[in-house]
Amino acid sequence: MPKISVLIPREEIQAKTEELARRISEDYKGKDLLLVGVLKGGFMFMADLCRAITIDVSIDFISVSSYGNTTVSSGVVRILKDIDYDITGKHILIVEDIIDSGLTLTYLKDLFAAKHCASVKVCTILDKPSRRKVPLEIDYQGIVIPDKFVIGYGLDYAEKYRNLPDVCVIEEL
Ligand code: IMP
Ligand code: MG
Repeated sequence: MPKISVLIPREEIQAKTEELARRISEDYKGKDLLLVGVLKGGFMFMADLCRAITIDVSIDFISVSSYGNTTVSSGVVRILKDIDYDITGKHILIVEDIIDSGLTLTYLKDLFAAKHCASVKVCTILDKPSRRKVPLEIDYQGIVIPDKFVIGYGLDYAEKYRNLPDVCVIEEL
């Protein structure tokens, strides 16, 4: 078993999620909002965020390839599962677990923007701004973390640890 320690406890994640949900509920009042979760990492944050939002929303998921089994970004984004809905005219809010290089989000924003939706914005629960390779505007920024590889709360290392309720770091493999 690797040595794991908690970086962001669940209470802090919950408080930030509620704050973001309040802002989203206010900003999108009276608008047709579609939350698009990025699988797999974003599933847990999506479940918590959508329950804290107080306006009507639709929910969909997109699955993109990310790091494989290493901790280094390939820079290549591949769609493994596309969204199901026609998004023309809808307000899209992309729901992410973490923004690292920014490559995935840049790709997804451009992809949605090309489909003539009303707006495309981004919400992430974790952000590693020190790792950015491309500039990216984050409309709903969660918790800023240092340049460490994190696991838990949806995030994996080699497809494990997604079920940990806190955001953790691996001290020793
Ligand atoms: P980006 O394209 O480099 O911004 O990274 C996007 C994706 O890489 C995230 O949505 C995660 O799924 C994954 N990722 C980035 N950093 C971490 C990490 O520290 N732990 C686990 N997955 C990560
Ligand atoms: Mg992700």
